[in-house]
Amino acid sequence: MIWNLGSINADNFYYLRHLPAPGETIAAHDFRQGLGGKGANMSVAAARAGTRVMHIGAVGPDGKWTVDRLLEYGVETQHISMIDTATGHANICVAEDGENSIVLFSGANHQITTQMIGAALAEASPGDFLLMQNETLGQRFAAQTAHTLGLRVAYAAAPFDAEIVAQVLPDIDLLVLNEVEAEALEKTTGARIDALPIDDIIVTLGAEGCKWVSNKAKTVQSFPAYPVKAIDTTGAGDTFTGYLIAALDRKLSMPDAIALAMQAGALMVTRQGTADVIPDLKDIQDHGFDED
Ligand code: RIB
Ligand code: NA
Repeated sequence: MIWNLGSINADNFYYLRHLPAPGETIAAHDFRQGLGGKGANMSVAAARAGTRVMHIGAVGPDGKWTVDRLLEYGVETQHISMIDTATGHANICVAEDGENSIVLFSGANHQITTQMIGAALAEASPGDFLLMQNETLGQRFAAQTAHTLGLRVAYAAAPFDAEIVAQVLPDIDLLVLNEVEAEALEKTTGARIDALPIDDIIVTLGAEGCKWVSNKAKTVQSFPAYPVKAIDTTGAGDTFTGYLIAALDRKLSMPDAIALAMQAGALMVTRQGTADVIPDLKDIQDHGFDED
């Protein structure tokens, strides 16, 4: 089972020909609102990948629909607190080439307390996963508590935050990050990622696939990407991570888990939107990646 300490956002998508330059006003040719937040996206991906996932988070009164939707998508929601503040949201500009830029408002995601996290993790079992990203508070407390309880701690260092990374590093078993974040991490720690005290590090490389740095086995293995036409990359990284941890929770080997997660991430860049459009296992099977 996965315990995901994660953000929940209302995602407002604006579809544009190109991303606005400073001072520029552009009319969007399309708009939609959906469920998002790196945390919620990972929870939905994990549920779609067929594992139990309990989301630990907070929303305001305007975010009741986000909790209903998580529930509808198979995510357990008993540890999402309803508090008296605005739900987090993201204004996402998506250009025709699939590139995006995002303005984030943390809202309720930054009102999560250690009490809320502690109450949730008290119900976890040794061998479960704790998953975290950087759009909430409480990562250090969560990682330390989870480690004491015998959980495996997985962390996606996104969006990159040097302070949080430094706090949680001693308690991380599995780290997922992209190339830019990996560089920032090396700068923060002054150490190469293959010298960090973390068993497994997955560096995603976009169209180049990803690499698995096993500091336990002292090996680095590369995995090619599945070629697809990108129309909206938003949420693809979150989908990759949610699928990866779910697959590991379901006891797949790391290479098999990575392959499945890459397929899910590849399908995700062909879809407009975030949590609402994360592919399930049948979508992946129907696409027939193996035949490609
Ligand atoms: O990674 C994509 C997510 O980042 C979006 O769903 C948005 O909410 C932002 O947090
Ligand atoms: Na997408």
